[in-house]
Amino acid sequence: MLRCRRVQPGTSAFPGQKQQVHEPKRPPLYCRMRKFLKFVFYKIYTVASYFWLKLDRIASWGETRHWIDNVPRAIFTPDIYVSYAGWMHNQGFFASLLSVFLKKPQPRILDFGCGMGNLAPVCHHFVKNGGSYLGVDLDEKQIAPCLKTYGSLSNCSFYLTHDKNPFYTPDGESTTSGIDWPVKDGSLDIVIAMSVFTHLQEAESIRYLNKIHETLAADGLAMISFLIKRDYINPHFVYNFDHALTPGWFTSNPSCPEMAIGLTREALEKLLANRFEVLSHIEGSVTGGRHPSLQDIFVLRKLPAPGA
Ligand SMILES: C[S@@+](CC[C@H](N)C(=O)[O-])C[C@H]1O[C@@H](n2cnc3c(N)ncnc32)[C@H](O)[C@@H]1O
Repeated sequence: MLRCRRVQPGTSAFPGQKQQVHEPKRPPLYCRMRKFLKFVFYKIYTVASYFWLKLDRIASWGETRHWIDNVPRAIFTPDIYVSYAGWMHNQGFFASLLSVFLKKPQPRILDFGCGMGNLAPVCHHFVKNGGSYLGVDLDEKQIAPCLKTYGSLSNCSFYLTHDKNPFYTPDGESTTSGIDWPVKDGSLDIVIAMSVFTHLQEAESIRYLNKIHETLAADGLAMISFLIKRDYINPHFVYNFDHALTPGWFTSNPSCPEMAIGLTREALEKLLANRFEVLSHIEGSVTGGRHPSLQDIFVLRKLPAPGA
């Protein structure tokens, strides 16, 4: 899920790589061939997907047509790196997770770092008869397709925050940690943050976790994914986590740490201490966990503020 990769011009995503200024020159033949084949692939795939979805809809049970009708068309273009299978898997995964843990009939849901609104269709199922789903993201290029694709889903809305993240908004170093989120303290039943804390260093994580704690109602839930560093080697450079930041916190890219942040289980326990209790832990396979989820997903319950 670490696919939203953006690197500042003139910097390198690869630690230790030497920066060079290149004169513009004609790309090599294999690059041009690759570009051409990709172009042809998506020309066929985009058109074929239109007919295939129609056929899939005919073959599906009525109850599953909601998912087919809400597949983001961008999946079938080179614009995003989510496959149809990955998107559907996510819908099913969250359909189960929310069904098990979300007991309120009209829940108020906030999706922090909503990206292209992947969770909007599945959350809509829970809020269509009341309640609300609010997707928040700092990237206009993510919020715009959310509004286009899911703006008409009842009780679902999206908000472009002014917060910054050095990986996603390379011009901005600091963040306001959710200060402009259009929600009142104690007003949410659940906050979801998938593949977002994997782009936040310790200090920011503490601030955002405090914000989530403040905005949740008593006994509110948070579903947050982390990359837990284990005694395991993933050969993909994104997951090596061999550069220490603060005790227990690591990155795979010291030149832009927010590209990928991992932490030890002990560091996570310290982060959650006195604020959240862990109801469930689904282990992430990319860092050697035993479950089919890519990242570690924690279902958390808000604890009363110390001294409250
Ligand atoms: C890897 S993407 C995950 C998107 C989505 N949650 C999903 O699982 O498909 C991370 C998203 O978090 C957003 N993001 C990162 N830092 C943020 C912040 N401080 N405030 C709001 N959004 C943030 C990015 O713009 C990006 O859309």
